[in-house]
Amino acid sequence: MQQPDNSAWLDADHVRQYVERQKTSSPIEAELFAVLARLLRSLPSKPGRILDLGCGAGRFGRAIMDVFDWVDVTFSDLSAEMLTAAREAVGENERASFLEADLAETAWRDVFGQQRFDVIVSGFSLHHLARDRRREVVDDMPRLLRPGGLLVVAEWVASPSAWLEQVHNRWFVETSWHGGVFEGDSATFEQTLERFANREDVTQGLLLPMDEQIGWLAEAGLDDVSCFWKTFDMAMFGGRRPA
Ligand SMILES: C[S@@+](CC[C@H](N)C(=O)[O-])C[C@H]1O[C@@H](n2cnc3c(N)ncnc32)[C@H](O)[C@@H]1O
Repeated sequence: MQQPDNSAWLDADHVRQYVERQKTSSPIEAELFAVLARLLRSLPSKPGRILDLGCGAGRFGRAIMDVFDWVDVTFSDLSAEMLTAAREAVGENERASFLEADLAETAWRDVFGQQRFDVIVSGFSLHHLARDRRREVVDDMPRLLRPGGLLVVAEWVASPSAWLEQVHNRWFVETSWHGGVFEGDSATFEQTLERFANREDVTQGLLLPMDEQIGWLAEAGLDDVSCFWKTFDMAMFGGRRPA
């Protein structure tokens, strides 16, 4: 099974640019975080331990730490550079820990030892794995959850049609553009749109239909499986380990 080349995430310049762009939060991000916070607030008992898988600079875990000021968050990523960025963004905080784990490795869970989490959140990281490997990781994830624990996956998903893909691309780039995400770039709006439409995730065929991925969660034994939020090709879905 050929895995996509993820070496760019190990590159300091690539990571710096990615992190720099993320410093401007888009309205979409605020929507995602609001839904995530509502889910966590609605759990039958207060969540205590969170895992941010494929954390990058820790965007999702940090958003959770900001709202739930008692939780411990484990930030995990393939990339040591990304974990350094996450560490810097979190700052001194004894509620945060950082672990390197490569989801492409079959033994990726070993690094967590006996730890079990109330919530696992994975933001836009799973699509960096080939379909079969992604499926295996999804199958494995519930084993890291405590009974009743929640898994939330935010992902780009495949467009159902070419027209909807265009609608998605323009919506996303416009929203980000007006939110100031591309400020500082010399590219025009149309060039940014073109670049976005031809991003590697798409050209490499890494985006999968949402329904297929939701089906995997149910087959992995999760309850309460659903799409929690979706606009065009951006989605947040998940489920809970039976209590
Ligand atoms: C698009 S970024 C998203 C980062 C972060 N979750 C966010 O939403 O800002 C994708 C992240 O997945 C990580 N990643 C890619 N392949 C991975 C793998 N095989 N195992 C673990 N993390 C991986 C990258 O290093 C990168 O930090």
